[in-house]
Amino acid sequence: MVEERKPVTVYDLVQMKQRGERIVVLTCYDALFARLLDASGVDILLVGDSVNQVLAGAETTLSATLDQMIYHTKIVRRGAERAMVVCDMPFLTYQVSPAEAIKNCGRVMAETGCHSVKLEGGRPLAATVRALVDVGIPVMGHLGLTPQSVHALGGYRVQGRDEKTAERLKDDAKALEDAGAFAIVLELVPAPLASQITKALTIPTIGIGAGPACDGQVLVLHDMLGLNDRFGAKFVKRYAALAEEVREAVQLYAAEVREGRYPGPEHSFPK
Ligand code: KIV
Repeated sequence: MVEERKPVTVYDLVQMKQRGERIVVLTCYDALFARLLDASGVDILLVGDSVNQVLAGAETTLSATLDQMIYHTKIVRRGAERAMVVCDMPFLTYQVSPAEAIKNCGRVMAETGCHSVKLEGGRPLAATVRALVDVGIPVMGHLGLTPQSVHALGGYRVQGRDEKTAERLKDDAKALEDAGAFAIVLELVPAPLASQITKALTIPTIGIGAGPACDGQVLVLHDMLGLNDRFGAKFVKRYAALAEEVREAVQLYAAEVREGRYPGPEHSFPK
């Protein structure tokens, strides 16, 4: 276990892998949840561009903007004391050129106070990852199902099922490690392949739908809390049923307001 309240660094994560300690990651989009998750011992708060779907109601992550990610990362950072805060860089803010990636990731680091950024992509992105690491920006990679490429991948489907794509994923992971990435998210990858990649790397892998052998796990917070009950996927375990609780609480409130039972004397000021 990383010592309580000491901020989690990229070095801690590599040591956790070496010690066989699992890394706990959740997405987070605001200060209130950041405080709760941080106090619960979550190691990394990922300000995912999934905020565009989960909170903003968009179909995909593709329309997430830099300003949107900066806003959410800033408010998550306010609630984080120990957890590392990672900002997911939105579509086309890092793919055009290494220079533009440095400008945009640098802006995110400077304006939000986050500790690192996450980029989607493998070997073709390695030069950009190297350029960012060289200017002091820690980079988390993201391979497998990369949601910003959902249309090119033909939907949200498991990646690396055949030998050719499995080999490509292994090569991508090695290229990211060689370029200086400090960790790699593996999304929707068969468990045996994720296990092979995890064993081949010295940096940690963080799985989502990638089986139990990864060095850490990440889930979308609102999915695992059962708040976003419209999304169901095999890999999501619901640890609570908050959508149901919210509906019940709001229905009770509405009934009490309509029947004049709320507010009662205990909620009112006599003078
Ligand atoms: O945007 C996101 O929430 C993510 C995680 C699912 C890894 O990238």
